[in-house]
Amino acid sequence: MDASSDEGVVTEEVIVPRRVGQASAEPWDVLSPVDIEDGSGSAQNRLLIKGGRVVNDDMMQDADVYIEDGIIKQVGTNLHTPGGTRVIEAKGHLVMPGGIDTHTHMQMPFMGTQAIDDFYTGTRAALAGGTTMIMDFALPQRGESLIEAFHRWRTWADPKVCCDYAIHVGVTWWSDKVAQEMEELTNEQGVNSFKMFMAYKDTWQLNDEELLESFKRCKELGALAQVHAENGDVIKENSKKLLELGITGPEGHEMSRPEEVEAEATNRACVLANQVNCPLYVVHVMSKSAADVVSSKRKQGHVVFGEPIAASLGTDGTHHYHKCWRHAAGHVMGPPLRPDSSTPKYLMDLLANGDLQTTGTDNCTFSAAQKALGKDDFTKIPNGVNGVEDRMSVIWEKGVVSGKMDPCRFVAVTSTNAAKIFNIYPKKGRIAVGSDADIVVWNPHATRVISAKTHHQAVDFNIFEGMEVHGIAEFVVCHGRVVVEEGEVRAISGMGKYVPTPVFNPHVYGRLEERERANAPCKVERAPYEGPVAQLNGQGMQEGGIIPVQQETFYTRGAQVNDKSPKRPSVKVNNPPGGRSSGSFW
Ligand code: URP
Ligand code: ZN
Ligand code: ZN
Repeated sequence: MDASSDEGVVTEEVIVPRRVGQASAEPWDVLSPVDIEDGSGSAQNRLLIKGGRVVNDDMMQDADVYIEDGIIKQVGTNLHTPGGTRVIEAKGHLVMPGGIDTHTHMQMPFMGTQAIDDFYTGTRAALAGGTTMIMDFALPQRGESLIEAFHRWRTWADPKVCCDYAIHVGVTWWSDKVAQEMEELTNEQGVNSFKMFMAYKDTWQLNDEELLESFKRCKELGALAQVHAENGDVIKENSKKLLELGITGPEGHEMSRPEEVEAEATNRACVLANQVNCPLYVVHVMSKSAADVVSSKRKQGHVVFGEPIAASLGTDGTHHYHKCWRHAAGHVMGPPLRPDSSTPKYLMDLLANGDLQTTGTDNCTFSAAQKALGKDDFTKIPNGVNGVEDRMSVIWEKGVVSGKMDPCRFVAVTSTNAAKIFNIYPKKGRIAVGSDADIVVWNPHATRVISAKTHHQAVDFNIFEGMEVHGIAEFVVCHGRVVVEEGEVRAISGMGKYVPTPVFNPHVYGRLEERERANAPCKVERAPYEGPVAQLNGQGMQEGGIIPVQQETFYTRGAQVNDKSPKRPSVKVNNPPGGRSSGSFW
């Protein structure tokens, strides 16, 4: 940490994230009427969080945090604060950056219905659990404008959100118009990530050619490509077979898409993205084998990130086999939770040691009645589970209390890494002077039992039902406002803001330019080949079968078809000094 100390006051400078090589104002830098209102109103509250242990991803320090106008102004001890400042006593508590949930679907229209947690109940529940920012997905229907979908999502979110939010946009079909709209979204709307689906055949699934095109486009625009990695063709085929066998219950969902279906697609996505030198982010990593693919590709030098979710870290797929249909259906999501009950611990180990980087939830909730749309056919069960409220507690319990990670790593995987990967660091994801005052005051010793009866979400089911967790968000501060107070949520709909995410993120693109230079294709200079050349007939076949080179002159007569065509240059890739990287050479 670059910090100077005056009476123990840490004056760390925060540099606002920008595009690589760009310093001018972005369209979204202009203050909206809402911002102006905030500036003269409640966000001017002064707040001191006193006596806690500040935890960032790279250090812990016992320090007070002083906040004004929604921004952290001082971090240190013996701070001078103006009179009238509200004080939160945080002795014995950890003071951490608010959580960032990288993957939610609030009120998403899906599989004939709509997710029951909307941007109000969903973000209010997020705050209750210590998450101060979500990243949701605007998903156009096949053929629909991406920009219209983006604006529709914003119209839904803006009046309702209780915490900040960003938007990833789905590339659910491919055309020149899609490519052009991606540019508009990055330049004018603050979108820097696009999700491509390798599943959901006949709706959102892209084929390999379309995936390649979309990865190439992301690369050109400096955006991050995200993939839902499952082989949709295999799932369709397996589902048909299972239904024919009379397997119509939720277990059919899991059986139709075993681990290798996820691992194959994860591997394919990594290869395709790497071939066009596009950074890749694999959403909802659900299985050991998919996680292994991400981890081994990283070891080979691919720029790839993996996101397990609260569900894959906190529970498993044995629940699909539960005798109660509602219970089993309540766990249906894609890719599925895995019946191998050692999966959550395995994924947590990878998250703890850096092979996986962020945590989302894929929060996409459906009530019992909505799940029942698939009571006679598992392919019609709306896919999705909860998590936005419990993610922080579940990761604390399974990650920190289990001894797999320390509080710094907890902060990294629940907040900081997301802020870095989506280019909003250190505005988000850090307790430092100049950062947004999105803070959770965490009681690491208190416990609670997770239950649908007490959670803040609208859904009537909780996949973590009955789990006792340590770690409670006792106070949550969002933009300097205290929104959770001793466990009581005091959120107001519409108080969250849209957070633009700039492209050409140095945390993601920083090494790509250099890599392209290092791996550039290099022609081998040599004398042209002067020997005989085989002759092809009209069908592109060699005339007269295989001709030994020394006999060739006996068989060829007169002018030849390719006499005038230029000789194909030989291209060979030279190894750069230090050996060839696995990166593509483009
Ligand atoms: O089951 C899931 N994951 N539902 C939400 C849509 C998606 O694929 O992320
Ligand atoms: Zn998905
Ligand atoms: Zn999702």
